[in-house]
Amino acid sequence: MMLVSFVPILVSLLIPSIVALDTVVHLGYASYRGQALPNGITQWLGLRYAALPLGALRFAAPQDPGWRSGIQNATQHGPICIPTGQYPIPKEISEDCLFLDVFAPTSARNSSSKLPVFFWIQGGGFNENSNANYNGSGLIKASDMNIVVVTFNYRVGPYGFLAGREVEEGGSLNNGLKDQIKALEWVQKHIHKFGGDPNHVVLGGDSAGASSITLLLSAYGGRDDKLFHAAAAESQSFAGMMNADESQFAYNNLVIRTDCASSEDTLECLRNLDADALQQQNINTPYPKAQIDPLYMYGPTIDGDLVPDYTYRLFQQGRFIKVPVIFGDDTNEATIFVPKDISSIGEADAFIQAQFPEIKLHHLDEINAMYLEDGDYPTFPNAGEYWRPTSNAYGEIRYICPGINLSSVISDYGVKTWNYHYAVEDPDAMQSGTGVSHTVEVNAIWGPQYVSKPAPPSYITTNAPIIPVMQGYWTSFIRSFDPNKHRYPGSPEWKTWQQSDGDDGYNRIFIKTGETRMEVVPQDQRERCEYLSSIALGLRQ
Ligand SMILES: *[C@@H]1O[C@H](CO)[C@@H](O)[C@H](O)[C@H]1NC(C)=O
Ligand SMILES: *[C@@H]1O[C@H](CO)[C@@H](O)[C@H](O)[C@H]1NC(C)=O
Ligand SMILES: *[C@@H]1O[C@H](CO)[C@@H](O)[C@H](O)[C@H]1NC(C)=O
Ligand SMILES: *[C@@H]1O[C@H](CO)[C@@H](O)[C@H](O)[C@H]1NC(C)=O
Repeated sequence: MMLVSFVPILVSLLIPSIVALDTVVHLGYASYRGQALPNGITQWLGLRYAALPLGALRFAAPQDPGWRSGIQNATQHGPICIPTGQYPIPKEISEDCLFLDVFAPTSARNSSSKLPVFFWIQGGGFNENSNANYNGSGLIKASDMNIVVVTFNYRVGPYGFLAGREVEEGGSLNNGLKDQIKALEWVQKHIHKFGGDPNHVVLGGDSAGASSITLLLSAYGGRDDKLFHAAAAESQSFAGMMNADESQFAYNNLVIRTDCASSEDTLECLRNLDADALQQQNINTPYPKAQIDPLYMYGPTIDGDLVPDYTYRLFQQGRFIKVPVIFGDDTNEATIFVPKDISSIGEADAFIQAQFPEIKLHHLDEINAMYLEDGDYPTFPNAGEYWRPTSNAYGEIRYICPGINLSSVISDYGVKTWNYHYAVEDPDAMQSGTGVSHTVEVNAIWGPQYVSKPAPPSYITTNAPIIPVMQGYWTSFIRSFDPNKHRYPGSPEWKTWQQSDGDDGYNRIFIKTGETRMEVVPQDQRERCEYLSSIALGLRQ
């Protein structure tokens, strides 16, 4: 008894001298030394937020990290989680990937500063962490040193989203989402040590990261665990979803491919495989009712708990956390996804059906009439005649119309909602037909030099003026839950989706270099979206 009570006293005597070392942060289970950069920002890279998810923790919910003595240098990103379909495994990729990075103004490192926190969830279709390792320096500078930025990796593919009866019984479903929640809980516990305010956390995310935002907003049917206080979703992706039963095919196929089928405990067999043996068999296969591979086969699973129902329905029923939100899209959401050689309506329908296997023929009939049958399409070099119209269809089904529907539904609950249409044209992308492609605005939000993949060339020339405009709206929203308060001088007011009670909404900001202004969603798009949201539950979105 006596001995135990001495330990905290000893520790508290030691800490003051260590704290004096500027960038060292003590997390209880580990201590990390960050790096103060010449730009006034300190970065801590590769902080472990959950235990190594191996052995019994593979296909299981994340656990607290173990204790580690000494001070670790937080000067390198942690490994990125293993994506579907990549073998052999490159060295910067590993199952030991549950790490996060923190960026904070160096001057904020005192107990009195409570800066707003931007918690960023990167995309990758829940099957990869594309474009991981964003650099928070650009956004912090754009906020006049007024925010803290957190980025992290979460499990994807089967590592994060394997589902089926055995996983439900012997492991856990939706572990990639649980990793995100684990990282948010880490922020609640520790971010004040970096100068951040745990009571002012804003989620950001693109694509699957934005889809994650919709899942976190509606998690447990909208139970508010106070992990975040506003959210900005970019190109929210609405895949078709399955429950554990419907996902059994993917589990069984993985068991068969890995020679685990004759094992008495197939889950244990999968857990005992080394990463190489498992990853070699981590491939995409068609859904049971489709002929061709979907873009992303593994994903969040309806589990009756964390993910209680389809996203469209949860929002429609008001089962979501009521915090200020941004949704929005790029003009040409699907050009980077639709195979360029699509040259008939049949191929277009097969592509759509591969993603949404529950789609009915009468849905396709309507979609074909709306997008594919007017016969007069712009053509692009090295592309089939139906590439662009198929992209228009898939872009609205999966991204644009879900964002429009949520904006209306959430506004109707009296929650502040903003929506954007990003239309910044890069000349090369316009010429190739890629257009204003999926999530390209991350380059403007983070700053072109702070994103790991190269930005379109015009972002450092003709489109450079859009960067402070986007950064102004985003950092303003992060700081004040309103994109206008600290917006870039001279940029237009970004009005809410519904500008007054009784207004039926559909007001969004149109963002284009030198031409940014409010617009009303055009009537034809509105009508297409009305149809698509009427069939969304049929598509299992
Ligand atoms: C951390 O970096 C410092 C300075 O570069 C070095 O002296 C020290 O050995 C490193 N510590 C560890 C645990 O690698
Ligand atoms: C503490 O942080 C705040 C906010 O970042 C800063 O303005 C202030 O100067 C800091 N105080 C000290 C004593 O460093
Ligand atoms: C982020 O950018 C700053 C400024 O260019 C640089 O000093 C820093 O090393 C970068 N951080 C990472 C993690 O790349
Ligand atoms: C949104 O989608 C739901 C679910 O399909 C539908 O019931 C509702 O009418 C849609 N709302 C709007 C405004 O489009």
